[in-house]
Amino acid sequence: MLNADQRAFFAELPRASRPLGTAWYAVLVLRAVLPALLALATGWLVGAVAGGGSLLVPLLTIGGLFTLVQLLGPLHQALSTEVGHRLAEHLNDRLLVACLRPDGIAHLENPELAGDLAVARDFDLGMTGPPLHVSMDFIADGLILLGTGVAASMILFGFRWWAPLVLLATWSSTHWLLRESGVWKDRNTAPVRQAQQHAEYAYRLAVDPPAAKEVRLFGLGPWVLDRFRERRRQLHALQYEATRLRERSVLAALAVVSAGNALVFWAIADAALDGGLSVARTIVFLQAALGASAIAFGGLNWALDGAAAPVGAVARIEGALRTIPLGTGRQVPRNDAPEIRFEHVGFTYPGTERSVLDGFDLTIPAGTSMAIVGVNGAGKTTAAKLLCRLYDPGSGRITIDGTDLRELDLERWRHRTTAVFQDYLRLEWTLRDNVDPAGRLDREHGVGDELGRALRAAGADGLAELDTVLAKGYPGGTDLSGGQWQRVALARTLGAVAAGARVVLLDEPTAQLDVRGEAEIFERVLAATRHCTTILVSHRFQTVRRADRICVLEGGRVVELGSHDELMAHGGRYRTMFDLQASRFVELDPETGEELVHDTL
Ligand SMILES: Nc1ncnc2c1ncn2[C@@H]1O[C@H](COP(=O)(O)OP(=O)(O)OP(=O)(O)O)[C@@H](O)[C@H]1O
Ligand SMILES: [Mg+2]
Repeated sequence: MLNADQRAFFAELPRASRPLGTAWYAVLVLRAVLPALLALATGWLVGAVAGGGSLLVPLLTIGGLFTLVQLLGPLHQALSTEVGHRLAEHLNDRLLVACLRPDGIAHLENPELAGDLAVARDFDLGMTGPPLHVSMDFIADGLILLGTGVAASMILFGFRWWAPLVLLATWSSTHWLLRESGVWKDRNTAPVRQAQQHAEYAYRLAVDPPAAKEVRLFGLGPWVLDRFRERRRQLHALQYEATRLRERSVLAALAVVSAGNALVFWAIADAALDGGLSVARTIVFLQAALGASAIAFGGLNWALDGAAAPVGAVARIEGALRTIPLGTGRQVPRNDAPEIRFEHVGFTYPGTERSVLDGFDLTIPAGTSMAIVGVNGAGKTTAAKLLCRLYDPGSGRITIDGTDLRELDLERWRHRTTAVFQDYLRLEWTLRDNVDPAGRLDREHGVGDELGRALRAAGADGLAELDTVLAKGYPGGTDLSGGQWQRVALARTLGAVAAGARVVLLDEPTAQLDVRGEAEIFERVLAATRHCTTILVSHRFQTVRRADRICVLEGGRVVELGSHDELMAHGGRYRTMFDLQASRFVELDPETGEELVHDTL
């Protein structure tokens, strides 16, 4: 009856919070049986009236039960809200722990986990359904109605053994007969969710800042609006289709319900008329027979699917990520700049066919800088990611001072390594947090000095106060320009060098800097990292030529290697690329018509 996600959901409530989860169940059961108890108490009162006995105790009992019914409703609602919050927190917590556990990042890109990751990430944003603290109340209502109906039927065992069975079967059959019209199940199918996702996306394009510029510039407003409306229409059509009642099952359900109820009510009436049933018992049994109808409206409702999906998703993600082996290397990397070797490295991204690196051989002597150049998609960033062990090579190996990277203690290796990635991190936290995340610099070098030095070297001093949040959405917060953000990323890397990193990866570190900034800052970055082993990836040859050596990456392997002068003399790929870029700086003198060569490279 329950699917695996739903079972996991019910089991998870007490795990999210033992006292609250248990209380939620306890009050649920109490609320389900109270109407039946009230019916019994009413019979007791009528019996007392008929028999001329004292009315005090039955009246007090009814009053007490009635008060409980009134009190437990709001109490349970509050409990539902709280349990929903706790469950959401508990799931978010587990998701964060599970996602942060693996050393690499391939799991976040795994297409097999993509669906579960989306559900586990977004379930409480209210995009595809109500958040958990709201659904819990709907779920409780369905279960209470079901319990109320079942409890009421139980009373009928006191009348005829078959009566509760007939009513239980009758009312349950409505679920079975109407299952086909599957209102709440069909409302949450894959096409519905997809239409919803598309509608949501169009909606965000229209209201969120990131797309605002292009939406206006390209005149996309009406197009976005059309998309939104069309997907919304599609969504509603699908939901309507799913919700529409199928006539035949409705008629069948009506027939079954009428027959079952006619039988039981006729039997009660017959017994009452025969004088075989007292007034009190007749009233109790009639109330019970009526109460059983709650089963038709109760049970598992639409809210359960949305609430159970993330519980199942998080459990599956945990299961999958738990099997990813963690780095077991124990060797401690030296404190000095190491020699780095890529030895015949082959690599293909998980879930893809094409190998990005194939027979990639490269040695970077200790304490020197190596520039990697190559066309877009050549695999430069990929090589940098392998060196950080965000992925491991499929074949070949990377050695650090002769030791396989996989045998090094990963945490210590990453402590020794720093990078400005092409898509560097922009933390919506303070400038201080951006330059010295986790307070490593402060801890190891005392407050102030190194942080200031890193900021100055990267030209990021004076951008904001250290404690200003770098995001507009916060009080006193500010935003930076693209190049200013890049300076902050460079400062972060220089800070890491000050804190002990000796391997520096610079992936397009100056792509967004202005010409003067590029020259000045890169000079200072080179000076600050002179004692490190540095890999520099850049399309700007003014930057590239400063590296000790340069390699050209093509077809997944190194096709040229040497110093700038050597490669220029060699006259191969590097020379061609260099000349191509240099030629951009040749222009005609407007007066003489002669070529003016701007030797900026
Ligand atoms: N996470 C990923 N999953 C699958 N394929 C990827 C992933 N990242 C990159 N690729 C693919 O690997 C190839 C190499 O990508 P990489 O980012 O290393 O190129 P690059 O040399 O840094 O290029 P660019 O100069 O544009 O930065 C590309 O074809 C790219 O499509
Ligand atoms: Mg790249």
